[in-house]
Amino acid sequence: MDQPRDLQLDNAPPTPSGNGAPAGNPATPGDVFDEVLKHKSHLYKGSLRPLQEDYIPSRLLHRDTEIRDVLRVLAPAIRGNLPSHLFIYGKVGTGKSAVLTQVQKEFAKRLPPESQVTFLNLNCANINGEYAVLQNLANQVIQRGLDGEDQIPTGWSQDRVYQALCRLSDRRGGVLLLVLDEIDCLGKNGGSDAGTNILYTLAQINRDLKEARVGIIGISNDLQFAQRLDARVKSRLSEEKVSFAPYTQPQLRDILKERAAEVFVEGALDTEALDRCALYAAQDHGDARRALALLRKSAEVADQLDAQTIRSEHVIQAKNRLELDVIADCVRKLTLQHKILLWVVISLSEKRRGEGVSMGEVYHGYATLCHQLGHKPLGTRTVADYVTEFESLGLVHTEIHSGGRRGRTRLIASAVPTHETLRVLEEDSTLHPLSRQRTFGQTDLWRFDGKPPADGGTGSGRGYAPIPE
Ligand SMILES: Nc1ncnc2c1ncn2[C@@H]1O[C@H](COP(=O)(O)OP(=O)(O)OP(=O)(O)O)[C@@H](O)[C@H]1O
Ligand SMILES: [Mg+2]
Repeated sequence: MDQPRDLQLDNAPPTPSGNGAPAGNPATPGDVFDEVLKHKSHLYKGSLRPLQEDYIPSRLLHRDTEIRDVLRVLAPAIRGNLPSHLFIYGKVGTGKSAVLTQVQKEFAKRLPPESQVTFLNLNCANINGEYAVLQNLANQVIQRGLDGEDQIPTGWSQDRVYQALCRLSDRRGGVLLLVLDEIDCLGKNGGSDAGTNILYTLAQINRDLKEARVGIIGISNDLQFAQRLDARVKSRLSEEKVSFAPYTQPQLRDILKERAAEVFVEGALDTEALDRCALYAAQDHGDARRALALLRKSAEVADQLDAQTIRSEHVIQAKNRLELDVIADCVRKLTLQHKILLWVVISLSEKRRGEGVSMGEVYHGYATLCHQLGHKPLGTRTVADYVTEFESLGLVHTEIHSGGRRGRTRLIASAVPTHETLRVLEEDSTLHPLSRQRTFGQTDLWRFDGKPPADGGTGSGRGYAPIPE
């Protein structure tokens, strides 16, 4: 099995000017504050805004075709006609939301003020349930300038909110285009039917309107979403489709280069570093968001080293740091039992230098540690399921090993940087004592020697159930 790479974050470079404090005497928060204020970057020429995630540049490179396709579908709205419902899909960070923002700007720029096209934007990831969707849309119609209307209060029945949305839309008139970004989240947030119900309601709303017409633009990075929809909704919603392909390495390079020119002084971004950022992001599903995050982090790393130029090695370090952030987020969200088990898997894996550890050994280690921490261990089948979950989260690799004295065995090894991940796990107060023990090489708390505890870790004295491999 692959040996996991360990990240050297402990060896992060000192801050540019040093803290001036004698060795072993940590800087006070005041020292750190002064130092940050004093530090002058060689890299940036002004605001860092163009590197931020929510910044949308005035020009979206390599999306002309997609912008044209979307505008072509929506064009009837310019003449006051109802366009087909549109479904936009493509992987994460392929510019779907940015294109829709750009398209709305074009409409605003080119259409006369009296024109009757109104965009209503909803990020479905931030909204919970059918009621909230209707209420939010109705309130947005009011905010677009309907005199004498009060916001829809929470507390009305859903039917009343729907009637209000229809009345307000008719009062506004013209074509209302509902941009439902991350449309796949509708089902996730409000129960499995919620997505279908609300989409069915909205797809039918034109039947209840007299003056206005409503078109729906659904956006999703879940490529299976449309397939999962109820047939009634699916046929209505996907009248027109536009797909966004992942960006290629040269395209990402262009996108990054343009942002870099806005943010960095000339020559501050080495060509090799730029290429490397584009390469990593292209390998990472052609995601422009990741590419920008990597460039931002690389600049941060270079700046901490007081470098004059962002170089390839800064990009490599930045990539490691970003990967670790993702792992840390995932690990922090685990339940305590998951954390105990993962701590055991990773510690054993570290001891074996990345070689796989058998499911039996993992279970015995887990049960021992549970006892020592005062927790009741879960059964062997549940633990085996947890290991499968870890694998799907990319935290461990497993491999079936057949033959030899033990027959078929499932071998598990860490797929993450062991030292850093153990440290994140030990942030949990229950596991915290283990960090001291590791630091001082003590073994008093976790005395796992590969043999099951006398009572089989269940307190029953009956030994373990067979370990599912
Ligand atoms: N063609 C482009 N030119 C410049 N910047 C771009 C381009 N495409 C995307 N970006 C930038 O990349 C980031 C991600 O883009 P966006 O949010 O539009 O992706 P998305 O496809 O909607 O992703 P998700 O599926 O995760 O919602 C944004 O900061 C956006 O400004
Ligand atoms: Mg988006």
